[in-house]
Amino acid sequence: MKHAEITGWGKCVPPAILSNKDLATFMDTSDEWITSRTGIEERRICHCNFSDMALVASRHALAAAGLEPGELDLILLGCLTPDSHCPNTASIIADALGARNAAAIDINSACTGFLYGLHIGTNLIRTGAHKKVLVIGGEFISHYMNWAKRDVAVLFGDACGAVVIEATNEETGLLTASIGCESDAKYAIQITNLGSSYSRMTDDFLYVDWNFEGQEVFKRAVKAMAQACENVLEKQNLSVSDIKLVVPHQANKRILDALAKRIGLDENQVFVNVHKYGNTSAGTIPVALTEALEESKIHPGDYLLMASFGAGLTWGAGIIKWSDRITPLKKSDADLPPCNETALEILENHINRYRARSKLTA
Ligand code: UT7
Repeated sequence: MKHAEITGWGKCVPPAILSNKDLATFMDTSDEWITSRTGIEERRICHCNFSDMALVASRHALAAAGLEPGELDLILLGCLTPDSHCPNTASIIADALGARNAAAIDINSACTGFLYGLHIGTNLIRTGAHKKVLVIGGEFISHYMNWAKRDVAVLFGDACGAVVIEATNEETGLLTASIGCESDAKYAIQITNLGSSYSRMTDDFLYVDWNFEGQEVFKRAVKAMAQACENVLEKQNLSVSDIKLVVPHQANKRILDALAKRIGLDENQVFVNVHKYGNTSAGTIPVALTEALEESKIHPGDYLLMASFGAGLTWGAGIIKWSDRITPLKKSDADLPPCNETALEILENHINRYRARSKLTA
């Protein structure tokens, strides 16, 4: 049977840092509230386009795999905040990379976009339809934020990660996955005024907004991710003690603690970086995977468990068997253009606009 080895990995986190204290300068919140409820200490704010972050992450992943862009036959992009809908953003990335032989598909399943993409790419490799696939997950979520809404604005950040998967006969890569969607609760996370169901004939169209039922999402996230993890462990005939590292979606440290407790994981089995980046939606897992490799937390032959949950409400889990190689074949010096502003300076107009709007509609 064919498998899809993860041969390359890379990340891009923009340099501008927005701390909890920065947030407290323009909204009624505090470092104490944010850290105690979420574990988040700071997040990154993008100063360029989403595709610029995706390009950097992809170039690192391609170098790690030792591949040229022209060798890719498919690019899958998990993202709900793309540069553009037409052309789709996977094709913008394909062109900028010079991936002339690759099909390019955007996947919008929010926070689960990377895991969904890895599942789709792996199975396309298994059927023989594709051989070398770039799977990207990331978000430019600050662009769509309502900076007057404290219950949402403090949770998210911008970042992107990518992996290369390639056909192999060795039993490695994503061995099994379980994905699904609690569509009955789809409006528990909703970005409004974005999409063709919203009238363009009112000024509301200019203000993207959020409906977010935090507690409902929290409960469902823990339950669905735990169930999905148990499914994949059972399918693969493994127990939690066989798992060397869990690389989960990073939305809230309390969700990760509750998940660990529910399925019987030890705290040090779970990779956590939510304190540095907040919830970067589809970016969390590929960025965490890359950092786990950089920090030598993954070893040849390790079983990894991934779990994710997000708008839709989509969920998923997967088991990966890592291959023999834990170091990049080559390194890339790809980086974002220089950033000369602080995170607050980047966001200033955006924040002022939303604050003025919220005063008008209060
Ligand atoms: O990746 C997609 C999935 N997303 C998630 O997984 C997020 C899931 N949900 C959560 O992480 C948590 O529910 C939150 C972090 C969003 C909220 O934590 P919570 O413990 O559920 O707080 P809460 O919503 O019950 O709010 C408690 C209080 C409220 O005040 P009152 O009504 O008790 O007076 C809120 O108004 O905290 C208030 N509050 C804030 N206070 C300071 C809400 N946001 C803030 C804030 N700063 N930023």
